[in-house]
Amino acid sequence: MIPVTPLANERPSALATEISERLNAAIREHLLSAFAPDNSKTLRSFSAPETAELLGVSGQFMRKVHAEGTLPEPEDIRGGRRYYTAQEIWDAREILEKTSRKKGRYMPRRSGEEKLQILQLMNFKGGSSKSTTSVHLAHYFALRGYRVLALDLDPQGSLTSMCGISPEIEFDGLTVYDAIRYDDPVSMADVVVQTYFPGLSIAPSRLMLSEFETESAVHSNPDQPFFTRIRNALAQVEDDFDIVLMDSPPQLGFLTIAGMAAASSLIVPLTPSMLDVSSTAQFLELAGAYMGVIEDAGASLQYDFFKFLITRDEPTDVPSQQLTSFMRALFQDRVMSATALKSTAISDATMLKQSIYEVVRSEMTRATYDRAKGSMDAVGLEVETMIHQSWGRK
Ligand SMILES: Nc1ncnc2c1ncn2[C@@H]1O[C@H](COP(=O)(O)OP(=O)(O)OP(=O)(O)O)[C@@H](O)[C@H]1O
Ligand SMILES: [Mg+2]
Repeated sequence: MIPVTPLANERPSALATEISERLNAAIREHLLSAFAPDNSKTLRSFSAPETAELLGVSGQFMRKVHAEGTLPEPEDIRGGRRYYTAQEIWDAREILEKTSRKKGRYMPRRSGEEKLQILQLMNFKGGSSKSTTSVHLAHYFALRGYRVLALDLDPQGSLTSMCGISPEIEFDGLTVYDAIRYDDPVSMADVVVQTYFPGLSIAPSRLMLSEFETESAVHSNPDQPFFTRIRNALAQVEDDFDIVLMDSPPQLGFLTIAGMAAASSLIVPLTPSMLDVSSTAQFLELAGAYMGVIEDAGASLQYDFFKFLITRDEPTDVPSQQLTSFMRALFQDRVMSATALKSTAISDATMLKQSIYEVVRSEMTRATYDRAKGSMDAVGLEVETMIHQSWGRK
C-alpha cells in the first residue's frame, strides 16, 4: 500500500509537478511488482497446436519432423506435451524453409523487389484504438515470421510500453526524436532496439518526442523539410525489416504528417460512434489539406492502401451497427471487412500491457478469448493479404 498524504502544493505549477512525481513513484512500484524479478517483460510459450497453426502445418507434420530429427525438440516438454518459445518457432521457420519446395512457405519475409511496407495507424480521435491495433498487428506479423519494426510516433509512448519499455520509468535511452531532430541527429540504427518478442523491434518514444513539434514549427531550413525526417530515418534501417507499424498521436501535428509522408499505406481505426465518425471526417479534411501542402512542396504521396478499420466493434449494439453499415455503404471496400471486436479479453490484456497473443487461452474464459483472438487474427490476415498484394504476390 502507498501511504497517502494530502497534496502539499497549491500553486498550479508546483501542484502538477507534485502530482506527476507521486504518480510516477506509484507507477514505478506497481510496475516493479508486476515485472519482478528482473523488471523486464517476457513472452509465454506456445502449445503444440498453436505452434502448428502459426507455422501453417498439421500436428502430424510437426510430430513427423521431430521424429525424423529435421526439427529439434523444444526444450519444454511437460507430460508428453510440447511447448515452444517464440524463438524456437522463429528458428523452426528457418529450418523448415530449407526443406520446403515452395520458397517463402515458412519465411514469408520480403524479397529484393518487394518494398518495405510502412503502415501508419492514424486518427486524431483519442482512444480510437490506434495503439492497440498497432501492437496486435505487430505481434500478428512477428509471430508469422516477418521482421517487424514498431515505430512509436506518440510522445505518450503507449506502443513503447506495450513493447516492454516503460517510458515513464527506467528508460532514458535514445528515442525516435534523436533520429529525426534537426540538430545532430543520431543514426536510426542506434535508436531501434529488439524487444523480448522475437521478430519485433521498437523505435521508442517518450515525452521528449514532442520537441519535434516545437522545433518543426520554427525550423526554416528548406533543405531539411520536416516531412522528410521520418522517411529518411526509416531509409537507414530499411534492409532490416519487412513491415513497419507506425502508431500516431491523437493529433494532426508535425509528427503525424511526417509519418504520412513516410508511409506506404494508411489505416484509420474508427470506433462506430457518431462522435467518432464526425471527428474522423474533420480529421480527413485536414489531413487532405496537409497532404496537398506536402505534395505542393514536391513530395509525392502514394499509398498502396488507405483503409478504415472498425475498432471496438459491438455486433449486438444496433446504433453502432447502423453506423458501420453507413460507413460501408459510403466507402465500400475502403472499410476493411474484418473488424476488431470490442472485448474484455482485449481490454484486460492491454491493462497488463499485453496483446491477446501474449495471453494464455486457459487463463481466460475460452469463448471470450477465442472471439477476441479470432477477430484480431482476421484483421491481421486482411492486412497481410493487402501487403502481399502490394508486393505483387498471388
Ligand atoms: N477491441 C477492443 N476491445 C476492448 N477494448 C479496447 C479494444 N481496443 C482498444 N480498447 C481499449 O480502448 C482504450 C483506447 O485504446 P488505444 O489506447 O489503443 O487507443 P488510441 O487510439 O491509441 O488512443 P490515443 O489516441 O490516446 O493514442 C484502451 O483502454 C484499450 O484497452
Ligand atoms: Mg495511442
